[in-house]
Order: sequence, then C-alpha cells, then structure tokens
Amino acid sequence: AMIGKGNHRHFMMKEIVEQPAVIGETLSSFFNPRSRTITLPDLPFDWKDLPKITIVACGTSFYAAMIAKYWFEKVADLSVEVDIASEFRYRNMPLREGGLAMFISQSGETADTLAALKYAKENGQHIGSIINVEESSMGRESDFVFHTQAGPEIGVASTKAFTCQLVTLACIAIDAGVQRGVIDHEEEARLCAAISEVPARAAEILESHVNIKNLAEKIFEANDILYIGRGTGYPVALEGALKLKELSYIHAEGYAAGELKHGPIALIDDTVPVIVVAPSDPYFEKTASNMQEVMARKARVIFLSDAAGIEQLGEHAVGSIELPSVDPFVAPILYALPVQLLAYYVAVLKGTDVDQPRNLAKSVTVE
Ligand code: G6P
Repeated sequence: AMIGKGNHRHFMMKEIVEQPAVIGETLSSFFNPRSRTITLPDLPFDWKDLPKITIVACGTSFYAAMIAKYWFEKVADLSVEVDIASEFRYRNMPLREGGLAMFISQSGETADTLAALKYAKENGQHIGSIINVEESSMGRESDFVFHTQAGPEIGVASTKAFTCQLVTLACIAIDAGVQRGVIDHEEEARLCAAISEVPARAAEILESHVNIKNLAEKIFEANDILYIGRGTGYPVALEGALKLKELSYIHAEGYAAGELKHGPIALIDDTVPVIVVAPSDPYFEKTASNMQEVMARKARVIFLSDAAGIEQLGEHAVGSIELPSVDPFVAPILYALPVQLLAYYVAVLKGTDVDQPRNLAKSVTVE
C-alpha cells in the first residue's frame, strides 16, 4: 500500500510522532508489562558462556549499539565491543569461536553491515540481528533475528527505527543480566517497569514540543553546534549531532563531555551553541561542570534535562527542554526524541529537504 504522510508535512515528523505506538508494538512481542518480565525467543547459546559480545552497525544504528554497550556492561556484566561496520569488516578482528556477534540495521541491507556479518559468521560467531524490514539479506544470514516493529521508515534520517532498536536492545540486555545471574527478579521488574513507561513518557514529550520549535529559532543561524553528554548521554549527543548535520547541513559534532578539554573547547565562543544532554543520573554533576565551562566561554547552552536538573541549572541556559524524570536506564531512549525534533525544526527553518537530504540515501547498499 502507498504510505502517506497523514497530516504531517514530512514523513520524518510522521515517523517521530509514531514512536510511542511503535515502541509499544515492538515491546509487545517479548515484554510482559503485567508480570514485568521479558521472554525472548530461544537463543542458540547460553549467556553465561559468553566472555564478551560484539555489536556492529552503521550510522544511527551504530549509536544504538553504543548505547547497548553501556546497558550490557551495566546490567549483564558483559563486555561489549562495538564497531562501525566499515572498519570491522576489514580489520581482521580476532573472534573466539562460539562468540556472539549482533548486527543492527533498519534496512537489513547496508552493504558494510552485511559484509561484517558474513565475516563474523565465517569466524564461528553466533549471528543475531535486529532489523526493521521483515525480509532482508541480513535476516537471511542470521541465526536469530529480532524484528523491530517500527513499520516502514521513509525519511532518510532514521528516527522511529532507532528508538525501536533501543527498546529491543534494552530488553536483550536485561534478559542477559537475568540469565547470567547479575540481576535478580526484583531488579528485572524494576527495569521492566521503567521500560513499560517509555511509550507514555515519549507521548508526553511529543505533546509538549512547541518549546523545541522555539529553541530551533535560537540556533538555526549558527555555523557550528556542539552536542555533549556522558554515559548513554554521549551516544545521544552523537545522534543529535548526526541528525542536525544530515538535515540542516549545519556542522555539528557530538562529544563526550569529559573530552571537551581535549579539543572542542577551543572552538567555543558566543557563536557556537552547545546542546547539553544531562538527565539526572550518576553523571549529572560532571556534565553540569562541563556545561559551566562552556558557558564561561560564552557558549549559548540548550539544556536537556528533567525537572530536578533544570531546577538546579536551567536558569543559566538560553533554553531548556524539560524531559520526564525517569530511571536513567531508559533516559537515552527518551532523550532521542528532543534531539530528533530539534534537528527537524532547524531544518524546516533552513528550508532544507527534510525527508531526502542532499547526497544521502535511505539505505547504503554499495560500499
Ligand atoms: C543510512 C541512513 C541512516 C541509517 C544508516 C544505517 O546512512 O541514512 O539513517 O542509520 O544508513 O542504515 P541501516 O539500514 O543499516 O540501519
């Protein structure tokens, strides 16, 4: 069937607002909100036997892998090697027989990711993939597939597929943690409760996003924009910068807040807005002091945090985006939405082609 934009001007906005529904849909296949448990399909290995895992992807899907790394390490005590597929496929990485390699892809067709998958397969890995398109080359080559239920994604810049990848990975990490005896059922239930709230919290963010449109007006004339965050806020910063450059052609960089002093702070003055991703989590105070450092150099800060964070620091920013107060574990899923929206509104102000940015393709099937 033909897919329309509904009441929206762009597919991207339609796909952004679909997120509460499609995240819920994705969760429904393995998540029981009543019993607060996760039931994954049978996997061809035992989580307890794995000394580490490898996750490979490209683009926005790679940032999902980066976030998953923090999750697996935290709740499953499992080290995770993440890499972009174009590097992984050529660097002859030694892989121990019987390991697990996972591949994340909206399309299931990205050439580098597919080649990386084949490399891992030839090197004796169990192959798992997280794919949005039902029938795909990667799906056919995998031992097991988690299908995200984002539905067709038309906008070139990935939005809903990303957050669906994230909830899937969060559930896999929790299950791994339970199987490995790292978290007990009480902790599982606590994390599941946080996950089950994600669709409703995402809907709240979407209802109150007029503010983000106004903030876009404060930054759309900039030539350079920096995004910073720590922990899972760091990949969110990377994703925010990627979205912005793809859609608006403004030069943007995502940086780990702790790396500011190792370079990017040299760029800061009153012409470089800084987007600070800082949910109330164990990193908050550290990120807050980085925020103060850039403000001391006259940066105009847009501050993404929750009520507690904004109460503490919001008055110093030129603008704040207040997000729901949630368990830090699920924060990156929700903080993905405002960075999508900010990039969207900046692009609309600049008049660029939101759904089909120049030089980019939805799926990169040639190297
Ligand atoms: C292209 C798209 C991105 C996407 C990336 C990976 O660059 O424009 O939105 O994140 O490919 O695609 P995949 O289908 O493998 O997730």
